[in-house]
Amino acid sequence: MIEPVYSPSANRYDTMEYRRSGRSGVKIPVLALGLWHNFGSHKPFQDVKAMAHYAFDKGICHFDLANNYGPEYGTAEENFGRLMECSFRPYRDELLVSTKAGWDMWPGPYGNWGSRKYLMASLDQSLKRMKLDYVDVFYSHRWDPETPLEETMQALVDIVRQGKALYVGLSRYPLEQARKAYAYLAAHDVPCLLYQDRYNIIDRVPQYKGLIDQSVEDGVGFISFSPLQQGLLTGRYLNGVPADSRMAKGVFLKEDMLTPAMMNALNGLNDLAARRGQSLAQMALSWLLNDSRVTSVIIGASSVAQLEDNLQCLGASPFSPEELGLIEQLSAPIQLTNSKN
Ligand SMILES: NC(=O)c1ccc[n+]([C@@H]2O[C@H](COP(=O)([O-])OP(=O)(O)OC[C@H]3O[C@@H](n4cnc5c(N)ncnc54)[C@H](OP(=O)(O)O)[C@@H]3O)[C@@H](O)[C@H]2O)c1
Repeated sequence: MIEPVYSPSANRYDTMEYRRSGRSGVKIPVLALGLWHNFGSHKPFQDVKAMAHYAFDKGICHFDLANNYGPEYGTAEENFGRLMECSFRPYRDELLVSTKAGWDMWPGPYGNWGSRKYLMASLDQSLKRMKLDYVDVFYSHRWDPETPLEETMQALVDIVRQGKALYVGLSRYPLEQARKAYAYLAAHDVPCLLYQDRYNIIDRVPQYKGLIDQSVEDGVGFISFSPLQQGLLTGRYLNGVPADSRMAKGVFLKEDMLTPAMMNALNGLNDLAARRGQSLAQMALSWLLNDSRVTSVIIGASSVAQLEDNLQCLGASPFSPEELGLIEQLSAPIQLTNSKN
C-alpha cells in the first residue's frame, strides 16, 4: 500500500507557547519531545511516526535525541532519519533537533565521556543516522572529570565552526563546571544555548544546587527532562504496575519506588489535579511551566494518547498560592534535593 505523503496541520503553531532560550535569538516550544525510550528499534516504526507527526502537528517542533537513545543504541536516531526521509525533510527549517554525546556509545576508550576524539566522531555518526547535515543543538551529555573542561568546550566550539551544529548545550554538569563552561563558550563566541537537567515536582536537585538560577544569570535556557519523573507523576502507577509500563521493564524505573510515602503523595497530588480539572501529568507539567526560569520541558511518551493528555497542560488555569503550597506539602516527603543519578 502506498502511504499518503505527510502533510502537517496548518494550525500547528496556534496553541503552542514558545519561550526565548536564555539571551539567545531562539524560541523553543515549552513542550519538546524526547526520544530516549519508545522511538528505537523495539517500537514499530508506525508508532514512532504517529507520535512524531502528532507532536509536530501540535507545534512541538523541538525533538531531543542522544547518540545512545533506543533502547538499542543509535536506533532512535536511525528512526529519526527515517522520519526525515518519509515526512520531515520539507520542514527541516521548522525543526529544532538536538543530540548529545557523553555516555557510553561504543567500546574502547573513544566511545564515552568528554574527549574531543569522542564528541567529534559521535556527532558525525549521529548526523549520518539522522540523515541531517547539521543539528540545531549539540550537547555535552555529562561532565567528564578526567578530561580538561577546555578540551570538551573547544570541541563544542569547533563543531559549531564546522557547521555541524548551530548551538551547543550542556547536560547534568555540576554548578562549578557549568559556570566555567558558560564562560569558556561565551569567550569563544559560542554562547551556551541550553542547560538540560532533571527537574520536576519530585526531583528538585537543580534548584537546590543553584543550577537553574545560574543558567538564568548566564543567559542560558533551562530545559527540564523527565518532567513526569519517568511516569511516576501521572496516573500510570496509582493502581498497580501496568504490564506495558516503563516500571514493568524495571531498568530505569524500579517498582521499589512505590513506597507508602510515594503512593500517599501521588494520590494527594492526583486529587489536587482533579480539583483543578487536570490529570496528574498535566498538573506536573503546568507546575514546571509556571516557573518563568524554565524555558521548556522534554516529555517522553509511549503513545499518541499520552501526548494528547500532556498537551492539555497548555492554557491551564494559574496556580493559586494555596495550590502551590499544597503541592509543596504533599511532595515534601518524597522530594529529592540532593545529588544522585
Ligand atoms: N540529558 C539527560 O541526561 C536525559 C536523561 C533522561 C531523559 N532525557 C530527555 O528527556 C526526555 C523525556 O524523559 P522521560 O521519558 O523520562 O520523560 P517523562 O515525561 O518524565 O516520562 C515519560 C514516560 O511517562 C509515561 N507517561 C507520559 N505521559 C503520560 C501520561 N499522560 N499518562 C500516563 N503515563 C504517561 C510514559 O511511560 P510508559 O512508557 O510507562 O507509558 C512515558 O514513556 C527523554 O526522551 C530525553 O530526550 C535527557
